[in-house]
Amino acid sequence: MIDVRSLTMRYGNYVALSNVSFRANEREVLGLLGPNGAGKTTAMRILTTYLYPSSGTAKIDGLDILENSEKVRRCIGYLPETAPLYPDMQTEEYLTFVGSARGLQGQKLTERLRWVREACNLESVWKHLISELSKGFRQRVGLAQALIHDPKVLILDEPTSGLDPLQIIGIRELIRNLAKEKTIIFSTHILQEVEAAADRIVIINEGKIVSQGTQSELASEVRLRGSELKSNPSLEDIFIALLLPNRGGKTGI
Ligand SMILES: Nc1ncnc2c1ncn2[C@@H]1O[C@H](COP(=O)(O)OP(=O)(O)OP(=O)(O)O)[C@@H](O)[C@H]1O
Ligand SMILES: [Mg+2]
Repeated sequence: MIDVRSLTMRYGNYVALSNVSFRANEREVLGLLGPNGAGKTTAMRILTTYLYPSSGTAKIDGLDILENSEKVRRCIGYLPETAPLYPDMQTEEYLTFVGSARGLQGQKLTERLRWVREACNLESVWKHLISELSKGFRQRVGLAQALIHDPKVLILDEPTSGLDPLQIIGIRELIRNLAKEKTIIFSTHILQEVEAAADRIVIINEGKIVSQGTQSELASEVRLRGSELKSNPSLEDIFIALLLPNRGGKTGI
């Protein structure tokens, strides 16, 4: 469903992504994991056609992102790092606006508004100005705008950023439910979140893929590289072993 091929992105002389390739199969949840500045947002911006890569490409639902950028945008729901909200609009007004811009109207628009209101738990802020919403609610409105047109593919850049623990569990469940019919890529710094919601994991650091696969495949790779790992390691153990192999798992922070 999503096939990323040798993506490289340079900002001037700085290489933010270097020859990155990965796949997400249909109805799979792919967790993109990596430290600050790893290149996660850059990769997502390229997939959503907001950035043009220096080289390489990707296919989404068989469509090349460089050759068919408009069609690609139509089949993607995107929650950027900072949700694209209009503070002077009420939640309902804003989502109606985004739904119309996505080509929805009449009964279909009403149905989709009702659906996102329930799925993202927005009932209590439906008539509130976005400028008056808490960070967590703004994030949920951002998620609702990504879902309004019922896209096949969801690209979520840190969807649980700013949410409290109960809301995080709610979003995690929502992601799992949506994955029954959608392909989802999400980025996060929270390892437990990837453990709980992702089918497969791509670990990226300094613009390069460090490892990818299921959690047990990542653990096997750590062992193949000769690093020690306890039996039944957590994703945290694996992450540290992959990113700090020479420090015996000590972060030094
Ligand atoms: N527009 C830009 N111009 C120059 N450098 C940029 C630009 N956008 C990103 N970068 C650099 O590219 C690198 C990757 O950034 P990116 O935002 O993709 O990382 P990230 O993995 O999303 O990080 P975070 O976890 O902090 O969100 C960083 O070093 C960043 O400073
Ligand atoms: Mg980012």
